[in-house]
Amino acid sequence: MATTAQFEHEMLREIYEQPEALRRTIELYLAADRLKPDFAARLAAWSSPEGEILIAASGSSRHSGLYAEILLEDLCGLAVDVEYASEYSCRGGSGDQRHPSVLVLSQSGETSDTLASLEEARRRGQKTLAITNAVASTMAHEADVSMPLAAGVERAVPATKSFTCQLAALYLLALYEGAQLGRIEVAELAAHVARLHAIAAALEAQLDGWHEQTARLAQNYRDAATFLYLGRGIHYAIAREGALKLKEASYVHAEGYPSGELKHGPNALVSERVPLVVLATVDHALDASVMRYEKTLQLLRDLKAQGARVIALANSGDAEVGALSSDCIRVEAASEYLLPLLEVVPLQLFAYFMALRHGVDVDRPRNLSKAVVEK
Ligand code: AGP
Repeated sequence: MATTAQFEHEMLREIYEQPEALRRTIELYLAADRLKPDFAARLAAWSSPEGEILIAASGSSRHSGLYAEILLEDLCGLAVDVEYASEYSCRGGSGDQRHPSVLVLSQSGETSDTLASLEEARRRGQKTLAITNAVASTMAHEADVSMPLAAGVERAVPATKSFTCQLAALYLLALYEGAQLGRIEVAELAAHVARLHAIAAALEAQLDGWHEQTARLAQNYRDAATFLYLGRGIHYAIAREGALKLKEASYVHAEGYPSGELKHGPNALVSERVPLVVLATVDHALDASVMRYEKTLQLLRDLKAQGARVIALANSGDAEVGALSSDCIRVEAASEYLLPLLEVVPLQLFAYFMALRHGVDVDRPRNLSKAVVEK
């Protein structure tokens, strides 16, 4: 399969760099499987146990924010709001009293709307944290606390390795907050860290299989007019991200929805030329995940009866999802909150191969730039 010399595009190279990028990013914040004390001390200057957290970001970075919302609420019991940076920065009004802590997420650290949100938060006296992939960026400098990623330079316009590294950094942030708030015990923390460490190797092991399969799927689904991506809970963020990746890389229209919303309108679109991508993975150790999965199974039954074309993402060995879908991408078992780091990668690859099928210059899609900076 692909070796370093064989990458035709930066996007594919960057997809394959994800295991290493994740290892480097995790190592920045962990020593001997514990959160580094200087990292904890920096975060202490940002978080406030009483207040709510506001996350402002754009595009893929905002999808990381949606992931963080569920993570921080479920694991840490915190209240989190996620805003489009372009909206938050233009809100006006009497100020934001509810959120003492503001987190901005940006691969480049330069996106104008996200930077404006950060500056507005600073003017209001809110504590700010910037997670960026550019340690020397304006956001990293201006925020009270900077949490850099070590994804390495990302050249392709579609974000890939910066996205998975954002998810890993947010997972570490949640571990810090959970431990601080007494929601995550010491033994549990060690188990979380071990699971996070295991993700890079799990990705490495599955990349070639996903590569082969998504290349075939792109060939079979190349004539689709629109794709609907569906996910529940934390997987909704990945449905959104998968759809955005497809749109920007291949110019094929796609939308991401919470699975339960399908029947409230979008289902009218479903046809031979409008297939679905359904995230149907499960963490059998977590009741809430099993409950979401069972609802997803029912949805897949309904979609099969309706004659819909469905690409499902499911746990390896899940015969039930296999039988209910037209095509099934397999993902090795992982915990509910780390499954997104695996799920997004075959969706990145699918977008990449769809771009090739549609003759798009995937590293430089039309009308887009790597950092949206107002002149
Ligand atoms: C991602 O694939 C896109 N290119 C785009 O949505 C991007 O995430 C967005 O413009 C935000 O950029 P940032 O992370 O550098 O702030």
